[in-house]
Amino acid sequence: MRLSSFVFLIPVVAVNAIACPSQGKYGFIPPGSTDLRGPCPALNALANHGYLPRNGQNITIRNTLQASQDVYNIDPSILVGVAKLGLLTSNEPDSFTLDDLKLHGTIEFDASLSRGDYALGDNTHFNETIFSTLANSNPGVDYYNVTSAGQVQFARLAESERTNPNLTNTDKEIGFRSFTFALTLAVFGNVTTGVAPKNFIQTWFREERIPFAEGWVRPACTLDGASVTALTAAVQEASNWTSSGGCPYVRTGSTAAPTLDSKAICKQLDSLTGQ
Ligand code: HEM
Ligand SMILES: *[C@@H]1O[C@H](CO)[C@@H](O)[C@H](O)[C@H]1NC(C)=O
Ligand SMILES: *[C@@H]1O[C@H](CO)[C@@H](O)[C@H](O)[C@H]1NC(C)=O
Ligand SMILES: *[C@@H]1O[C@H](CO)[C@@H](O)[C@H](O)[C@H]1NC(C)=O
Ligand SMILES: *[C@@H]1O[C@H](CO)[C@@H](O)[C@H](O)[C@H]1NC(C)=O
Ligand SMILES: *[C@@H]1O[C@H](CO)[C@@H](O)[C@H](O)[C@H]1NC(C)=O
Ligand SMILES: *[C@@H]1O[C@H](CO)[C@@H](O)[C@H](O)[C@H]1NC(C)=O
Repeated sequence: MRLSSFVFLIPVVAVNAIACPSQGKYGFIPPGSTDLRGPCPALNALANHGYLPRNGQNITIRNTLQASQDVYNIDPSILVGVAKLGLLTSNEPDSFTLDDLKLHGTIEFDASLSRGDYALGDNTHFNETIFSTLANSNPGVDYYNVTSAGQVQFARLAESERTNPNLTNTDKEIGFRSFTFALTLAVFGNVTTGVAPKNFIQTWFREERIPFAEGWVRPACTLDGASVTALTAAVQEASNWTSSGGCPYVRTGSTAAPTLDSKAICKQLDSLTGQ
């Protein structure tokens, strides 16, 4: 009896905490000097609110998917692939730290919205200069949308083209870049229209704080694969992307070279398509 009422209480506690997040277990606390954070604003913010371990360590696929569902209402099926890739960045068999995720080429990519390129220095920490492209986009209105998202992606890539001789920009990178941008528009705005308030997105990126105080509420409907995929495609389309050449690769460990480098496969494809 006690056990079943205890189990029943868990979701109630979680819902209360989300509705009243400025205090208690899920209150916002910026990371302390020994807490690890990384290149993903979404997961950093979850850790800053205690939905993931506040020390940024011992992050598992399961708790990542659970926290993303509880807080952002993202269907776990959308994230399970990227969460599994996250594990490749770690030397632990079944967990990663938020900092591990910066491993270039596994998930981490160039021309990010708020972080520098790996070859140019810091690919992990929020950088206001880089973020200003997004922050200042869609002038004159208080929302971002698919058009402005495309413009930002275009501008960030052009900047990397200009400054980073080591730029990696293949189908894999544009896919991830469009996906993370689309998820952001969906979580903070409308997954169908792609319109999202600037205020929520800026607070989240800059402070790695979930903008409850600004009036954000968890999306009423679960963000599912079909809708997020459609928005991802729209953002990519709006960004007029072209590859800078090269082949997509995945790094399979922190000391591994690009071991799944698909150059051989690319060459074959190129010869088939006559390029
Ligand atoms: C399944 C768990 C997740 C993992 C393992 C993960 C991992 C990562 C990694 C490695 C990056 C760095 C990419 C870069 O170079 O910019 C990143 C960036 C990003 N992630 Fe996550 N992420 C996860 C979930 C999420 C969720 C749920 C959201 C959205 C609500 C999200 C939004 C973003 C955004 C917007 C960026 C881009 C930051 C930028 O371009 O500056 N991520 N993520
Ligand atoms: C992760 O959790 C395990 C088991 O609870 C613990 O032994 C270990 O010290 C933790 N590691 C870190 C880095 O927190
Ligand atoms: C950039 O590319 C050059 C030439 O391929 C290489 O020597 C150098 O190590 C690369 N730098 C980084 C940070 O990857
Ligand atoms: C932020 O990015 C800009 C533009 O790439 C760069 O010049 C600057 O050094 C970066 N700042 C830090 C603190 O890394
Ligand atoms: C995005 O917003 C800008 C500014 O209001 C507008 O010009 C543009 O048409 C919008 N894009 C879409 C797809 O609605
Ligand atoms: C993409 O190309 C279309 C058609 O040329 C143009 O109207 C649009 O402004 C371009 N968008 C970007 C982000 O460059
Ligand atoms: C998104 O916008 C559409 C069209 O304006 C509207 O019908 C729908 O209810 C909105 N959805 C959300 C989650 O706000």
